[in-house]
Amino acid sequence: MAEARRIVATAALPYANGPIHIGHLVEYLQTDFWTRFQKMRGHECLYICADDTHGTPILVRARKEKVTPESIIEKSWEDHFRDFSDFEIKFDHFGSTNSPENKKLVEEIFQNLKDKGHIEVKKIDQLYCEHDKMFLPDRFVKGTCPKCKSADQYGDSCDKCSATYNPSDLIEPQCTLCGSKPVIKSSDHLLFQLNNFKEFLQKWVPEHTQKEISHKLNEWFNEDLRPWDISRDEPYFGFKIPGYDDKYFYVWVDAPIGYIASTQEWCLKNNRKLEDFWSHKNSEIYHFIGKDITYFHSLFWPAMLSCTRFKLPKQICVHGMLTVDGEKMSKSKGTSIFARTYLNHLDPMYLRYYYATKLTQHPDDIDLNLTDFTQRVNSDLIGKITNLGSRGAQMLTKKLDGIITEPLTDGLALIREAQARAEAIAQLYEARDFSKVITEIRSIADMANKFFDEKAPWKLLESDIEEAKSVVSTSLIIFRLLAIYLKPILPKYVENVEKLFGEKTYNWFDTIKLPLNIKLNEYTHLATRVDPEKVQKIIDETKKFYESQEKVEKTNVKKSDDNGLIDFEQFAQVDLRVVKIIEAEEIKEADKLLKLKVDLGNGITKQIIAGIKSAYTAKSLIGRYTVIVANLKPRTMKFGISEGMVLAAGAGGKELFILSPDSGAKPGDKVK
Ligand code: 2FM
Ligand code: ZN
Repeated sequence: MAEARRIVATAALPYANGPIHIGHLVEYLQTDFWTRFQKMRGHECLYICADDTHGTPILVRARKEKVTPESIIEKSWEDHFRDFSDFEIKFDHFGSTNSPENKKLVEEIFQNLKDKGHIEVKKIDQLYCEHDKMFLPDRFVKGTCPKCKSADQYGDSCDKCSATYNPSDLIEPQCTLCGSKPVIKSSDHLLFQLNNFKEFLQKWVPEHTQKEISHKLNEWFNEDLRPWDISRDEPYFGFKIPGYDDKYFYVWVDAPIGYIASTQEWCLKNNRKLEDFWSHKNSEIYHFIGKDITYFHSLFWPAMLSCTRFKLPKQICVHGMLTVDGEKMSKSKGTSIFARTYLNHLDPMYLRYYYATKLTQHPDDIDLNLTDFTQRVNSDLIGKITNLGSRGAQMLTKKLDGIITEPLTDGLALIREAQARAEAIAQLYEARDFSKVITEIRSIADMANKFFDEKAPWKLLESDIEEAKSVVSTSLIIFRLLAIYLKPILPKYVENVEKLFGEKTYNWFDTIKLPLNIKLNEYTHLATRVDPEKVQKIIDETKKFYESQEKVEKTNVKKSDDNGLIDFEQFAQVDLRVVKIIEAEEIKEADKLLKLKVDLGNGITKQIIAGIKSAYTAKSLIGRYTVIVANLKPRTMKFGISEGMVLAAGAGGKELFILSPDSGAKPGDKVK
């Protein structure tokens, strides 16, 4: 056996503000396969992860739910941990970024960056909501895309035309929390000068990640690397920056440092030194990540680490994203499936097996095709692999003496062939080519099933008992080998195989010896077929969940208490504004409608189609001030788009009176 390696493998830290879904599992499962494999090979390998707890979304949610952020992250930790455990994902340590160890390390690493002259302070303009008293991250601002003019786009990029921009470039920006118009406010920010590391990174990246990824990164290297804003102003949920009262480290600073902190927590529990893993010359660090967070892990993170006492990762293992039935996971189609919903209906082993059949060392997206999922698990895992064990075991225990005997020559030859694949399979595991691991395993199963069928041992029971025993023993010995090869992927399943053979926990080198003269224990079911109806139930339950959530959101907007009273937050969702009517025309084809153009100040205008023709002529309105609802979703009507609503009182017809503000109010003033 080669010398034991010392390995730390991490999976990206899941955000503490949402449940684990089957997209996340692509990563946690492959890291689990890989780390379990390393352990079976006798290496010291830690699977490290933690909840990613900081940032604005958790703070906002805590405010809304009137709880502390700490209570949210505590609950999330428990839920995440339970989901992972039930999926047979075995971390050596699952920590939290909101830990004293992490805080200390973040401060140390920040000091390193500062001492080496990589931090600059600069004033930056950002959108600020005066109602919510906070700077608004990109995802908390919506408005019209400055490029294609599509409404309802986020502050950083447009869904429709894919343009990227600054939130302050959005047309008619709105705070997504309260609907009011943010203002631009300036404050000091701390910037990490990433470009100081450009040369180092250009050399480092291609040696430490897949080709596809370093090609992509080459595009980024064509230009200077932009400074990275690592500070956030109060209010924020995170660690304060030493030397500032009102500034916090951006969540993406303390998240990857959480990899180290979580390892440290493991070390404390296990009486080991952090340096043995994060500073030792022979230790190896592997980060498993999705391609969406490549920039953070292959640029910021190595640049930061290069200034510290910690070593850089040996490999950034990037995987693609999950699609379901060829499309992005969808709430309305019920394919945005939570881990828990899956577990309510199906055994985790099926998804573990299916993902393994799909995962390669390349960062291509992987597709969970639900029909293929059922068929493949049923035909391969059940029909080929499990079948080999179950027919052999039942025949040996029920029709023969239950003892595995040394097979005759042809059986032995087959076993030797299956054993000879061990190193090739190990290399595939090492290279994270899990799909080829499964191909190998399947082909061995095919070979053994063919042997069994051709020899037809059930016929030999009367005529040649020795030959019958040889065939059945061959099948079982090969089945046991397959179980060892499969163990990193199907740990629970293989535990039952260990019980069947009455053997202790398998490691990789148990492939060398043969279980001869072992008396087999009674066969109990290892796995049953996937029932397609259960797959449908998962989809239905998911759909139902999102539908009910949508209903709750809708009623929350409308909701008042029993006395018909609403609270201020509900009122504040309606953005009432003073406007000046600058154009008005009658819509000839409509009895009741006028088309107005109103001025909202700051050069913003809106078109409103208002049902007030019965009481006003177009001309009489031009130049008048009135009040509108400014955050109504634009409606496409027969005569054009209406982007708001004029407030009017009265019974209707001639009895209709639009509101006017007192003199002094200006276009754009908020009514509150
Ligand atoms: O993208 C995400 O879900 C982040 N929470 C991943 C953080 S990984 C690491 F840097 F901590
Ligand atoms: Zn707001």
